[in-house]
Amino acid sequence: MRSCISLITILLLCGILLMNTADVLSDPQTKLLKQVCSQFKIGVNMSDFLSNFNKTFLDIREQMSNNRSIHFATAEHTNLYGMVQCRNYLSHGDCVACLDAASSQVRKNCSTANGGQVIYEGCFLRLAIDFCDKDN
Ligand SMILES: *[C@@H]1O[C@H](CO)[C@@H](O)[C@H](O)[C@H]1NC(C)=O
Ligand SMILES: *[C@@H]1O[C@H](CO)[C@@H](O)[C@H](O)[C@H]1NC(C)=O
Ligand SMILES: *[C@@H]1O[C@H](CO)[C@@H](O)[C@H](O)[C@H]1NC(C)=O
Ligand SMILES: *[C@@H]1O[C@H](CO)[C@@H](O)[C@H](O)[C@H]1NC(C)=O
Repeated sequence: MRSCISLITILLLCGILLMNTADVLSDPQTKLLKQVCSQFKIGVNMSDFLSNFNKTFLDIREQMSNNRSIHFATAEHTNLYGMVQCRNYLSHGDCVACLDAASSQVRKNCSTANGGQVIYEGCFLRLAIDFCDKDN
């Protein structure tokens, strides 16, 4: 009887350990590894820039929702180019969460720059204005 109880204890402990591991696995891994801003200032109307920024990342988000197995997507609206790549081991939900964190991070960190990159443990985001139209 005693050994049965200790077996149950071990199983419970294992269960707790597994649950902790599962928590780690469903982590969007938004530990910041690196961020870089373009040295060029936003050369277009700011509200146009923000609206294109939103459209570009909404488009990427939609691509990821339409196909839950993709870990890479790009989009471009009025010369505002965005690219997101998640590590292959991230789940769909974590990939989208990582993308959301990275896109608000690049807005916050590169608020006046016309481009930038954010590298999290779980995903990579790049934002750039098409240079052919830099004079507009
Ligand atoms: C920026 O564009 C918006 C709409 O496209 C316009 O209402 C606004 O006046 C423009 N601002 C500047 C500073 O040109
Ligand atoms: C872009 O999205 C942000 C956050 O969702 C929002 O606060 C902002 O008003 C949007 N801007 C434009 C121009 O659509
Ligand atoms: C989803 O994306 C994966 C990986 O790119 C691809 O192999 C698959 O064909 C796509 N599925 C659909 C329904 O588009
Ligand atoms: C963005 O991040 C970089 C690197 O962490 C930092 O050097 C820079 O000052 C930040 N810029 C802004 C506008 O927050």
